[in-house]
Amino acid sequence: MIKVWTDGSEAGWLDRLGERGSVFLYLPGARAERAVSVTMPVRLPSWETRFGLAPIFEMNLPEGVLRERLRLAFAKATGTFDDLDLLAIVGRSQVGRIRYTGEAESLQEDVPFQSVDEILASRRGGGDLFRYLIEKFAAYSGISGVQPKVLVRDESSAAVLAEARAAARGRTSPSHKGATHIVKFWDANEFPQLAANEHFCLRAAERCGLDVPRHRLAEDGAALVVDRFDLRADGTYRGCEDFCVLNARRTDEKYRGSYEGSVLKRFEQFAAPSELPGDLERLYTLIALNCALRNGDAHLKNFAIVYEEVWGEARLAPVFDLITTAVYLPADKMALTLNGTTRWPDAKALERLGTTRAQCAPAKARQILQRIADALADTAREVRAYSKEHPEFREVGEAMLSAWRSGQAHSLQ
Ligand SMILES: Nc1ncnc2c1ncn2[C@@H]1O[C@H](COP(=O)(O)OP(=O)(O)OP(=O)(O)O)[C@@H](O)[C@H]1O
Ligand SMILES: [Mg+2]
Repeated sequence: MIKVWTDGSEAGWLDRLGERGSVFLYLPGARAERAVSVTMPVRLPSWETRFGLAPIFEMNLPEGVLRERLRLAFAKATGTFDDLDLLAIVGRSQVGRIRYTGEAESLQEDVPFQSVDEILASRRGGGDLFRYLIEKFAAYSGISGVQPKVLVRDESSAAVLAEARAAARGRTSPSHKGATHIVKFWDANEFPQLAANEHFCLRAAERCGLDVPRHRLAEDGAALVVDRFDLRADGTYRGCEDFCVLNARRTDEKYRGSYEGSVLKRFEQFAAPSELPGDLERLYTLIALNCALRNGDAHLKNFAIVYEEVWGEARLAPVFDLITTAVYLPADKMALTLNGTTRWPDAKALERLGTTRAQCAPAKARQILQRIADALADTAREVRAYSKEHPEFREVGEAMLSAWRSGQAHSLQ
């Protein structure tokens, strides 16, 4: 049995149910703000899931390399290893506002310190650095995704300073000292130069006027360090839920759905009404940008909402995980459907998406596509300059620019 916490307070209990299922029960008397998800209000009856965990509890389970690494390290002790075992390990340090502990444990996040500057200067070298970080931080990395990554806590981050200031004034600082940054690596055999690829795609998103967390590329291109957008200045965390949760889908269903229904329409259902027009426009811009960048991995877990209170106003989360996947898979298609197909849309189809699903006037939709084209042109200059300085990036850089050219020609004009 696992104890579930929201915003630092006990919310309920999670346990196995039958052969493969699970059950969650709110504590008696739990108030509405303790809800674990915007999709699971506080109620008396339990929440049962026949296979695996409810999407909100599955949301941050590591996939790929990190999951395998944790399985190898911890499976021996328990004999078997399922999602609940994994949650018990990484539960104390998670993206968002939910934490998990053992039955009798209290909440203690305390992630070890790690200088981000040291990672950026990459003094240990790519592979070595990754092995070191995964060794030290895997068990603190309640974060999903297939690419190798860890959550770390940087000594000099704003949150740490804020805590120190609060302590100096005699105020209680948050009891948990959680992670401040995400460090993403790549496998040279599978996805060479992935960090630089993501870095420049995020630069393009910034130029489109989208909200992008601070992201820094290591000097040798071996890692991308991204600031956590769910971290508040006082060291506590906002709520964050991805679109698998909002669509009541399991992680292995992240490629199921459409941009019209499972993303735009679904967002409307949970979004803050007062901010809806602006957020819809941003979400539409992001979908169109993914097409222009030829990112075939814009699935349900790569869109999210954030909120201060679970019963309050949800906003579109800042942008994350943008990659020109066409570099590695030249024939890549979209991750979800648009007009019933995963083929890249032309500009007309994107314009229609804006007018019919994102409350944009035709002129506005066209203006957004033009803004994306301008952003790509400006970012292309940066890609060329970086290629000059980093010959090892040249091939990937050229493949990115070629993908952007087709994206622009077909999907923006
Ligand atoms: N800056 C951030 N702050 C807080 N949470 C984030 C941030 N960036 C990403 N996340 C969360 O972490 C998850 C994993 O990150 P990301 O999508 O970048 O990893 P990935 O391995 O590239 O994913 P994929 O499996 O889609 O390739 C996201 O789905 C999101 O929930
Ligand atoms: Mg992702």
